[in-house]
Amino acid sequence: MDKKVTKIGVLTSGGDAPGMNAAVRAVVRTGIYYGMEVFGIMRGYSGMIENDIVPMHSRSVANIIQRGGTILKTARCKEFFGYEGRKKAHANLKKLGINGLVIVGGDGSFRGAHQFSEEFDIPCIGLPGTIDKDISGTDFTIGFDTAVNTAVEAIDKIRDTADAHDRLFIIEVMGRDAGYIALHSGIATGAEHILIPERKTDIEELIDSLTEKEKRKKLVNMVVVAEGDNFGGADEVAKVVKQRLPNVDTRVCVLGHIQRGGAPSCLDRVIASRMGYSAVECLLEGRYDVMVGILNNKMHFTPLEKAVKAKQKISDEWMKIVKILAS
Ligand code: F6P
Repeated sequence: MDKKVTKIGVLTSGGDAPGMNAAVRAVVRTGIYYGMEVFGIMRGYSGMIENDIVPMHSRSVANIIQRGGTILKTARCKEFFGYEGRKKAHANLKKLGINGLVIVGGDGSFRGAHQFSEEFDIPCIGLPGTIDKDISGTDFTIGFDTAVNTAVEAIDKIRDTADAHDRLFIIEVMGRDAGYIALHSGIATGAEHILIPERKTDIEELIDSLTEKEKRKKLVNMVVVAEGDNFGGADEVAKVVKQRLPNVDTRVCVLGHIQRGGAPSCLDRVIASRMGYSAVECLLEGRYDVMVGILNNKMHFTPLEKAVKAKQKISDEWMKIVKILAS
């Protein structure tokens, strides 16, 4: 893979994340700046397999930096996990002469990218685009900051009504396998309890704590639950709470996909722009098969192979902070 990269494809894959458009814009404009031809691949790996690939120009990415979603659309493509799918995709890229790829997505997307670049002679660069923030080798993932601020805004509003009625609210935020949105939004809104997939939910401990709060007339309580908490999310937790604490006026609110949409925050726009620029530089410099991250405010490159294996870990100190501050 040591020949010069002259034609690149950019795609967004997996769950969309605010800031993906800013990343696409940066890849397109940096590629053009360096004299490359740039193509947009529609609907993630599906577009590669189905040959839904369009030439991109500087104007194709005008007026998108502030928009959520992704102009390239996205998908979770099962066919790409099979060799036949990847072979088809490769044949389509070959026809167009595309000899470098930038993939904006999460760890599932990187797994596909790594396999693809191992099997075929097309170098791949991954940009971490996920609201879940569950990727190591970077302090930021594109979309997390916006999503967590959306959650914070919503939880603040819920607290107003909880306070007016003296209620317990059990609020579910996104994160099937990762608790970062729950942890950050919970801390930022002063949640009394935060339940995340990375820790086993101790329902008895939660009931004991809420019982104690009921006794000392602490009337407003907020429990933030990640959708992937191992007790089964907000509805399951609420069932037990309502049964065991019938005098506590309890409501559930599932925030859902509103966390994925909306205009990207300044932070998401800036990191996406830096990462998109850096991805093209990687292809120019021959730094292949890496994920571009930002660590300690410097660009950081993790081999895709490593990036798909190592998850970010949540340290016990975070959980201690939650406990101390919520008392
Ligand atoms: O993109 C990550 C994520 O938002 C997870 O937090 C969530 O569990 C999942 O995607 C939801 O996926 P879908 O939109 O396919 O239901």
